[in-house]
Amino acid sequence: MKQIYTEILINAPPAAIWRVLTDFKNYPSWNPYEILMEGDIEEGKSFRGIVQFPEAWKTRHRCRTLRLLPEKEWIYQSHYLNIPGIMDGEYILQLEEEGPNRTRFIQKQNIQGLLVPLVWKWWSGDLISIGLGMMNHALKSVVEGGETLDKERGVVMRFGDQDKAALERLRGSWALVTGASSGIGREYAVQLVAAGINVILLARRVELLEELAAQLRENDEIEVKVMAHDLADPSVGEHLRRALHAEGIRIRVLCNIAGSDTWGYFEDTPLHVYRSMIEVQIWSLIEFTYLFREDLESHLTSAVINVSSLAAVQPVPYITVYAAIKAFVLEFSQSLYGEWLRRGILVQTVLAGPTETGMAAFPRLKKYGIFEKFMLPAEVVKISLGHLSRRMPIVTPGPRPFLHWLFATVFPARVVILTLGHRFRPGQRSDGT
Ligand SMILES: NC(=O)c1ccc[n+]([C@@H]2O[C@H](COP(=O)([O-])OP(=O)(O)OC[C@H]3O[C@@H](n4cnc5c(N)ncnc54)[C@H](OP(=O)(O)O)[C@@H]3O)[C@@H](O)[C@H]2O)c1
Repeated sequence: MKQIYTEILINAPPAAIWRVLTDFKNYPSWNPYEILMEGDIEEGKSFRGIVQFPEAWKTRHRCRTLRLLPEKEWIYQSHYLNIPGIMDGEYILQLEEEGPNRTRFIQKQNIQGLLVPLVWKWWSGDLISIGLGMMNHALKSVVEGGETLDKERGVVMRFGDQDKAALERLRGSWALVTGASSGIGREYAVQLVAAGINVILLARRVELLEELAAQLRENDEIEVKVMAHDLADPSVGEHLRRALHAEGIRIRVLCNIAGSDTWGYFEDTPLHVYRSMIEVQIWSLIEFTYLFREDLESHLTSAVINVSSLAAVQPVPYITVYAAIKAFVLEFSQSLYGEWLRRGILVQTVLAGPTETGMAAFPRLKKYGIFEKFMLPAEVVKISLGHLSRRMPIVTPGPRPFLHWLFATVFPARVVILTLGHRFRPGQRSDGT
């Protein structure tokens, strides 16, 4: 059985919170997680609901109230697909009065069933606890504000609030972002600065870095440094560390984002391109993580963010070297997570799916309709940074990584490889093969 626990302190008496919780018809206007509830809230009676997993899919469930103690406790249960044994959830909502106008609101979920061991790592635990967290924050703002928020604006604000809370501890410290000149890396720099974190921008295209730095410096509480380097150069890591230490800067958030890809027949890409991809995305990632370890350890909590890819979850012909590199990043980062978590250093792997950026292959993948939906860099980064406080090893923006992993796990390797090969095949070569 898996358990999820969330809580929030609300500046209101239990009666005020209970009124909002039991008013099903108003759920769509404030609740970003349980977006719809219909039916009776009475012991032994059933009701229906729709759960919206954050940035992912919706699911319907039929629930039954097991216990109802007004203004104190509400326990209900549901079965996935309404069939007991697949994934059964027991939902426990409790209100503990802490003072005349202060209540601890607790939401727990006990989840068991056949599917649970299979899906837990990739989907449920993470998405459910984020969803419950969002609901808690929404409930607090509705109860304390005494008003019903505009749904769309409310959801965005609440998610933003949660991100901010996660980053608050890092305000005033330094982050190093590789690959900051465009795409996902650029967006990390923007969102870190918005959270009050100083940034060092690293990439080769100095004019893009300077342009971004000028924009970020409009926030005068923030310091921004530009370091234009080629990460394929093996001397960069040590040089950078010395230069930063000379200025008394100790990195607290290391974002290893830089990367590039190729798409096509393995032998059609020059060997030196593969070497450079490995130097940037494997070697420099290891090197930076190694060299900045003491910086990271000098803080009570700190983080390394490594961007992997959906391509890491299974083999992908025609982006063969790229997929293998990203699989390395995934394995390396998870193992290091296990070593460093106890020291206060979170190693977070972001399993990004198709994202609108300047990556070489992706516009072509889009053109050939290989992926239907591309995320925006801002969405990917928001989810990654919003997860820092949860200290999870893997962040999966959207449900795709789970579905790919399920496909790769359930089907034989030959089927998986040939299916992906079919989708990614660039077309016939001139020799007809
Ligand atoms: N876009 C997607 O769909 C997707 C999906 C999953 C994972 N990812 C990963 O996300 C990361 C960022 O990619 P992106 O999509 O944001 O693409 P992007 O817009 O092309 O950004 C790549 C960044 O890496 C930097 N970079 C590349 N080679 C470098 C080198 N030798 N030295 C220093 N910097 C270098 C580039 O800067 P300069 O060119 O200025 O040096 C640029 O800032 C990559 O690791 C990629 O594998 C992307």
